[in-house]
Amino acid sequence: MRNWRVTALAAGAIAVTMVAAGSFSVAESTGEGLIKYRKALMGANGGHMGALAGIVRGEAEHGADDVLVHATAINAIAGLLPDAFMENAEGAETRALPAIWENWDDFAAKAAALEEASAALMEAAEGGDMEAIGAAFGPVGASCGGCHETYRAQ
Ligand code: HEC
Repeated sequence: MRNWRVTALAAGAIAVTMVAAGSFSVAESTGEGLIKYRKALMGANGGHMGALAGIVRGEAEHGADDVLVHATAINAIAGLLPDAFMENAEGAETRALPAIWENWDDFAAKAAALEEASAALMEAAEGGDMEAIGAAFGPVGASCGGCHETYRAQ
């Protein structure tokens, strides 16, 4: 009975994997998958910023260790942005503006600015001083906004 269940579960997992792999290759060929991926990266950015804002404002009872986790995640995501946006994908609704590919170096510089601002926040978090963390948080938000202003449709 037990083995039977395990086998059924394994078969289910394989089926799910096959469906996921199949839909991914279809999505990729239309650019839909890439657009979804970019939005997921940005959604993750938004989640981490929301968590950080709560900590910095003192609404969430968490300290520098948590700040370090969120800052590190944003820093890593910033490093993924040039690759994720390199291709002007089509096939799904997107707010990415054509200006990105007309001014690629500037767009990449704005991703690098987020990488630097989040690295400074990581450093402040490692120092453990909440005041320094608060001061380093603002520039991170400013680099999100700095890119959206020019490269994301309202
Ligand atoms: C280098 C440019 C750039 C930086 C830096 C950047 N973004 Fe974005 N962001 C974009 C673009 C372009 C889009 C539109 C993506 C699309 O619709 O395909 C976007 C979309 C979003 C979205 C909407 C996602 C969705 O599901 O439609 C959120 C939320 C977001 N960004 C949050 C952030 C946060 C928070 C930061 C900073 C931690 C940030 N972004 C940094 C360029 C950037």
